[in-house]
Amino acid sequence: MTNVVVIGSQWGDEGKGKIVDWLSERADIVVRFQGGHNAGHTLVIDGTSYKLSLLPSGVVRPGKMAVIGNGVVIDPHALCAEIDKLEKQGVTITPDNLRIADNATLILSLHRELDGIREDAAASTNGGVKIGTTRRGIGPAYEDKVGRRAIRVMDLADLETLSAKVERLLTHHNALRRGLGETEISHDAIMQELTSVADRVLPFRDTVWLMLDRERRAGSRILFEGAQGSLLDIDHGTYPFVTSSNTVAGQAAAGSGMGPGSLGYILGITKAYTTRVGEGPFPTELTDEIGQFLGERGREFGTVTGRKRRCGWFDAALVRQSVATNGITGIALTKLDVLDGLDELKICVGYTLDGEEIDHLPASQGQQARVVPRYITLEGWKESTVGARKWADLPAQAIKYVRQVEELIGAPVALLSTSPERDDTILVTDPFED
Ligand code: GDP
Ligand code: IMO
Ligand code: MG
Repeated sequence: MTNVVVIGSQWGDEGKGKIVDWLSERADIVVRFQGGHNAGHTLVIDGTSYKLSLLPSGVVRPGKMAVIGNGVVIDPHALCAEIDKLEKQGVTITPDNLRIADNATLILSLHRELDGIREDAAASTNGGVKIGTTRRGIGPAYEDKVGRRAIRVMDLADLETLSAKVERLLTHHNALRRGLGETEISHDAIMQELTSVADRVLPFRDTVWLMLDRERRAGSRILFEGAQGSLLDIDHGTYPFVTSSNTVAGQAAAGSGMGPGSLGYILGITKAYTTRVGEGPFPTELTDEIGQFLGERGREFGTVTGRKRRCGWFDAALVRQSVATNGITGIALTKLDVLDGLDELKICVGYTLDGEEIDHLPASQGQQARVVPRYITLEGWKESTVGARKWADLPAQAIKYVRQVEELIGAPVALLSTSPERDDTILVTDPFED
């Protein structure tokens, strides 16, 4: 018996929410450890769809504890709105099933505003680089965390020190805003913003590292829910077209306060093709009718922003890289059904860069833009795999595709998903028992 870390092995939206929901039946605690409400995780249970951004996907199962760890950046207003939305869907959320790390960083309205200002004026303020962020204030909030001037959850409980912290934060932000030609923000406005949510947020706060240590010793099963994907990681991703946190599995330890030795099985959620939202390099992108087919069949629209996701062939070189940077034990291969009916399927096995064959994506932005994918071609299948619940239900060509993926990425398939529905999942190896 072990703990399980779920992370995305591509550019996000691999189906982490569905798999975390499925696995959470076997877990006692589900922990988010990075990112914020830039994430959009979709769960479909008996035809009802739940969209979660900040709350761990385990929150919809009665009797499970959901935890927001210290590595997450929390917009308290977004948190309250999400709790209200889920309660309307019949999910009860109280301190009995949700805990928030008292040392987690808060996202304020000024972060959200700054995110938008930078994106709108990318040409003049950001060296011409538009990232295509979710505009949720994620980057600016992490900047303040690393700059040691952030407001954290526990600060809401101590108004006297809060006032001094807000002062310090505004000294930085107002200087920045003056430079950008924006109006300054008053101390009172931020104090008002924070005090208005304190009573709602504080009951959930906990010393999360201590609670997880106690639970681990008592034998509880802990499931870590990553957000975004490994190619959006601030260090290992396609920088600067990345998010502002480490999204790789190692962050599950730092972002929750549990030692890396207790993390256990690393499950990389992997889409059977590739998608990306926002700007940045995408070697296997398809701008033709096949890309359109994948987008339509896979319903590839962003959960958070509604933007159309860019679609392309499966890139085994990228996922092989994620297997290494995360220490992936096995993968959950999702959305295989979306490939049904295609005559042939291509898989990228490496790249050509300036006439030379390479087998991984280089770190340089210029080189990333220049790589040309090298493909192998497989025969497709005509049968439907939608809703398949056992290996034997899969057409021979689909099995061949899955085996080829395993071989190329160097990791086995532990779970296979064949529709958005919770139970349309084939279990090969139980990550909790591996
Ligand atoms: P996440 O961010 O990784 O949790 O993924 P999203 O929820 O943003 O996007 C994945 C989308 O694919 C969601 O709409 C899911 O309901 C859906 N989905 C998940 N697994 C499957 C699958 O195996 N087949 C199909 N067709 N859809 C799936
Ligand atoms: P889930 O958890 C896909 C992308 C944005 C943008 C970049 C930076 O649902 O897989 P940010 O707002 O984080 O500063 O934006 O990262 N991005 C995601 N793409 N899935 C996500 O989350 C994402 N979260 C952020 O589109 O390109
Ligand atoms: Mg998503």
